[in-house]
Amino acid sequence: MSQKKISVKVYRNDPTAGSGPSYDSYQVPWEPGMSAMDVLDHIYQNTDSSVAYYDHAGCALGICARCTGKVNGKACLLCQTIVDGDLVIDPVNESQVVKDLVSQRGRK
Ligand code: FES
Repeated sequence: MSQKKISVKVYRNDPTAGSGPSYDSYQVPWEPGMSAMDVLDHIYQNTDSSVAYYDHAGCALGICARCTGKVNGKACLLCQTIVDGDLVIDPVNESQVVKDLVSQRGRK
């Protein structure tokens, strides 16, 4: 039996390049208990290391909130959001994107 795969669309944007936001799509092998952060780790480690996100610089415990983002339109902590099907991952605030899923933090 082949392993279930999920389709993942990831928000991409590099404001310094000026090309505007877009989405890249990936197929990721799914495992029970997999978080949205695990999905991004898989993409980064196996498919596309150009995706910018807060990875293990954060706590992965739901404490620091560095991994705040949106999964299927709902704001969440990516490290604490268990996924079981296709998903779209966006930054929590597109207007403050530094690159892809990394946003400026704090007030300007
Ligand atoms: S990495 Fe700290 S809350 Fe997710």
